[in-house]
Order: sequence, then C-alpha cells, then structure tokens
Amino acid sequence: MGNFAVGKKIMEETDLFVKNSMVLERLKDEYRFNDIIGQSEKMQDVFRLVEKVADCDSTILITGETGTGKGLVARAIHQNSQRRNKPFISINCGAIPENLLESELFGHVRGAFTGATTSKQGKFELANGGTIFLDEIGDMSPDLQVKVLKVLEEGEFEQVGGSKTIKVDVRIIAATHRYLAEEVQRGNFRDDLFYRLYVIPLNLPSLRDRRSDIPHLVSYFLEKSNRNNKRQIKGISEEALELMIRYSWPGNVRELKNMVERLVVLKGDGEITVRDLPAELKSTNSYEAPGMIEITDDGICLNSAVTEFEKALILQSLEKTKWVKNKAAKLLHLNRTTLVEKIKRHRLQPCNA
Ligand SMILES: Nc1ncnc2c1ncn2[C@@H]1O[C@H](COP(=O)(O)OP(=O)(O)OP(=O)(O)O)[C@@H](O)[C@H]1O
Ligand SMILES: [Mg+2]
Repeated sequence: MGNFAVGKKIMEETDLFVKNSMVLERLKDEYRFNDIIGQSEKMQDVFRLVEKVADCDSTILITGETGTGKGLVARAIHQNSQRRNKPFISINCGAIPENLLESELFGHVRGAFTGATTSKQGKFELANGGTIFLDEIGDMSPDLQVKVLKVLEEGEFEQVGGSKTIKVDVRIIAATHRYLAEEVQRGNFRDDLFYRLYVIPLNLPSLRDRRSDIPHLVSYFLEKSNRNNKRQIKGISEEALELMIRYSWPGNVRELKNMVERLVVLKGDGEITVRDLPAELKSTNSYEAPGMIEITDDGICLNSAVTEFEKALILQSLEKTKWVKNKAAKLLHLNRTTLVEKIKRHRLQPCNA
C-alpha cells in the first residue's frame, strides 16, 4: 500500500473526517485520558498501564522521544493517584546548573554557601505527601545520582549545609529521552540508581509509530487553537491531512501542536489546505530512511540515530511488501526470524493499527 493509500485508509477509519472533512466534531470521550489524546492501540496500552500503576507508590520511569508527552503522562499518573490532592512538583534536572540542582532538590540551610541568606526548602520537601517528577534524570551528575538514590532507598536526606535528616513521603516519577541502559553501560549513569528507577518502565511511542492518532490530535489542537486565539478555522482538507499523516514528526506531538497553532493563527478562518502547509510536509516520504544527520555542537546519540535508521528501513520494506514478512526479510537480506525479532523489539505495527 502506498503512503497516500495508507493515509487515506487511516482517514476512512477515523469517523471524524469521513462525513465532512471541514466540520470539526467533538472528540469521543473514550479517546481521552485527562487531555491526553490517544486512540491507537499503543496509546491505549499506555493508558491501561497508567491506570494500573497510578494508585501504587512504585517508582515509574517514563521514556520516549522528545515531545511524546512524558510530562503530560507524569501529571496524569499523579492526578489518577490517591496523592492527587497533594503537590505535584516537577523539576527539570537537565535545565538547572549542577551546583544549584542539589539545593533545588534538597533545600539548604542559611549560610550553606555564598548568597544563602535564608534557609530554603527543596523540591523533595515541597512534594511531601505528593509526587515529585524528576524530568530529564539522565542529565543528572553522578554525585547527585548518589543522593537521589539515598532518598529512593531510605526516604530521607539532608539539606545542603545541614546536618538534620529530613524524612519525606514522596512518590517518584522520572523521565528521560536518553537510553538509560546505554548510559549505564557507558558509565554515565549509576546502575544501582537505574535499577531503583526501572521498577515500572513506561515507554511512550513516537508519533510516527501511531499514525492513526494524527487526525484526532489535529482535530483536538485545531479546536483548542481556535478557542485560545479567537480564530474560526473550520477544518482541514483531506489532502492536507494525508500529508500530516505521512510526515515523520521528529518533534512528535509537540511539533504537531505547534504547527497546528501556527496554521490556525496565520490563516484565521476557512479551511487549511495543502498550500498552507510548510515545505517539509509536502516533500517528505515518511518511510524513507533518514538521510545524513548533521552532528550539532551538542553531539548526537549514535545508538539512537542508528536505531531510527534501522526502524525506517524495516518499515519501508514492510510497506513495500504489504507486511509479508518473508518478502520483507528477503529485501533486507535478513532471515525471517531476525526480522520478526526486530519488529518486536521496535514494536512496529502496520500504521493503520
Ligand atoms: N497525547 C497527547 N495529547 C495531547 N497533547 C499532547 C499529547 N502528547 C503531548 N502533548 C502535548 O505536546 C507537548 C509536549 O508534551 P510533553 O512536554 O509532555 O513532552 P515530553 O515527552 O515531556 O517532551 P521533552 O522530552 O521534550 O520534555 C505538550 O504541550 C503536551 O501538552
Ligand atoms: Mg518533558
């Protein structure tokens, strides 16, 4: 099935756009989970897991590419737990300079360092009774990893410069866009902390692995952007939606959300058509293997780039052969079992699944 045909099939199965692609309809409640849109099997699996684990106190490690909704899911877990009336405190461990992060997490006593004119409670204390969300935990320094491990194991810590041990009752949710297991192998992340965090892993699928959610997300964000910006966009043409379904969305839902908002604000009213879409949507073949990737000053993760490359080639071969695995394996010069193993590992499904 060609990519256009795939897009069309998804649209036909999406009751939102079948009868009148220009009319926005309210999304069905069963497709929502506290404002998290996800009707695909993969997202329904995520919702089922969230429901199962929300009410226990086990540590959860949320992984997934940038923009897949890790922050959103962390909050949903808290909101569905018995701790919902207590604080949900979020801290981005990658965005705070290392020397400040310790005092942000654990607080400090007066005079602990130059400028500490008063004592200050840290995020762990502020979250007492509730949930702390340690975002981008993979970016934390080894020294701090030891201290976080202690809170996980004993539920206690000392403020910076303090000697009093503080006990807290906090549920920990951590998130990272890194492959933590690889960071452990490279010696960048402590294995004891990794295993302590890896109690309940929750992986959020990338948007290109659940394309059937795209029409729902587009509709949801169109409606929201109209409301927030006082615009009257009536809908999106079938052809434009097909291009959105085919696109690879490297920035996942965040990229889609921002694009829809931009289209709504700039166009203002009427229907969004192919002419309104940015060039990258019109030129991309979503199953094409990514081309040469530029290494930025921040560097790139070779392993994840290679994984993405492998996934794209496997998907391309499966689409070419209508998911007949024997034929796809032949195209890739693999034996069938190896291919099946890789499909499982990458959790690949036909894109109308
Ligand atoms: N399934 C979804 N339904 C509705 N909105 C979503 C969904 N997933 C993500 N979003 C929205 O997309 C944006 C990005 O989500 P979020 O910040 O949770 O991603 P993230 O995985 O934490 O990204 P990063 O790794 O860059 O921090 C947010 O505005 C969020 O509200
Ligand atoms: Mg985030």
